[in-house]
Amino acid sequence: METTTGAGAPTTAGPGAAERIAATALRPARTVVRWGVRHGLASVFLERSARSGDPVGRLLRNPAVRDHPYEVHEELRARGPLVGSSLGLVTTSHAVASEILRSDRFGVGWDRGAAPRLIRWALRFGDELDATGVAEPPSMLVVDPPDHTRFRRLVSRAFTPRATAAFEPVVQRTADALLDALEMRRGTVDLVETYAAQLPVLVIADLLGVPAARREDFLRWGAAAAATLDPGLPFRRYVAAERALRAMHAFLREHFERLRREPADDLVSRLVGLPDEEALTERELHATVMLLLGAGFETTVNLLGNGVVLLDTHRDQWEALAADPSGWDGAVEEVLRHDSPVQITGRTAKADGEVAGREVRAGTRVTVLLGAANRDPEVFDDPTRFDVARGNARDHVAFSAGIHYCVGAGLARLEGVVGLRTLAERFPGLRVSGRPVRRDLQTLRGFEHLPVALR
Ligand code: HEM
Repeated sequence: METTTGAGAPTTAGPGAAERIAATALRPARTVVRWGVRHGLASVFLERSARSGDPVGRLLRNPAVRDHPYEVHEELRARGPLVGSSLGLVTTSHAVASEILRSDRFGVGWDRGAAPRLIRWALRFGDELDATGVAEPPSMLVVDPPDHTRFRRLVSRAFTPRATAAFEPVVQRTADALLDALEMRRGTVDLVETYAAQLPVLVIADLLGVPAARREDFLRWGAAAAATLDPGLPFRRYVAAERALRAMHAFLREHFERLRREPADDLVSRLVGLPDEEALTERELHATVMLLLGAGFETTVNLLGNGVVLLDTHRDQWEALAADPSGWDGAVEEVLRHDSPVQITGRTAKADGEVAGREVRAGTRVTVLLGAANRDPEVFDDPTRFDVARGNARDHVAFSAGIHYCVGAGLARLEGVVGLRTLAERFPGLRVSGRPVRRDLQTLRGFEHLPVALR
């Protein structure tokens, strides 16, 4: 019953009472089926392969490895640039990652029509807009052209270099205000909670025209929903993620209605008010805005947190940057390279072909370890060394490559530079003062808690 929406046009025909009751009664069964097809099968598989010692299984399953993935990356690298694993093929090579990410022989989508009948039934039965996350179609992250091109064109205007540069005063003002509040507190604080998470969520809220007052809700929902990027999520965490997704979709629905009535000068108002020939369906609109909102803060928080920890353990470099702030651009690139906020992505071969001298058949999944490619000794000298003055740090693939290259890369860099530079200016004596706690995630890499002493 979904219809394309123009400004002010009705969106979906509401279900009748009987349909609503049936949908509610079926909800728990649909949640179980959804989890089973999206995570349950992968979870059994990964568990088994982790037990058998498979490096990818261990990487995705073992919490100790999650905190220190780089040793497993080196184990894989020693086997070759593109190697078989429990999840299909996997690459740690910068050259192979770049080739695959840029190649039109690989895509992010997969042919659902070719799946076994039971899977197709499960996908259909479990399909529900309000339970759909950013790693599922029609999120642009996981759709191929021509849909990808259509979604990307609609949002990229808001992220041109010029549009991003015009955003610098907002980022600076936001950082200043957050640090003013910390100035009053001094002592020991959790820097993720008070700063690293707050800056990106406030900036993206401003850019998308969503109310900053809801930021604690966004952060809570985002933290739970981010787990859906990881394969093989346990049932309990999936249920928590789904609850967060439902709350987010409900918020977005109201927000779109408000903007249809009272459009403002922001990206989301433009998206809900597109002329009929360009208009997004309700589902596409939800997917696009949810991705922008989530990607806008769930990743940059990790850049800021990882940066503070790396510079705390390389104190001389923090002090050099405090003395000469012109080095911050390079420092942010080196943080992105050395401890990449998005560690993993993947592609599926659309046609038979050869990569790195290896036959890759259509339908083969290739896991691309971005964090490992960014430590490839073929590209980066002495790659485990953290060096903010490294000449080619910017050659990293932390923002991916090819048609899915991060739309928000410029904004993330701006937030990284302004966020870290301003922190160092205001608190040059800042030190990590307790044990930082990593987020319990594999695809995203960052800290959940980061105790610091403000000085
Ligand atoms: C340090 C911060 C960030 C990192 C490391 C990062 C990383 C990435 C990566 C690796 C991808 C592509 C994944 C793939 O190829 O499969 C991506 C895509 C994307 N990012 Fe970011 N991102 C960051 C910040 C942002 C921000 C601030 C936004 C703002 C809205 C954003 C919006 C997006 C969107 C919309 C996509 C999908 C692009 C597409 O599929 O065409 N990201 N990001």
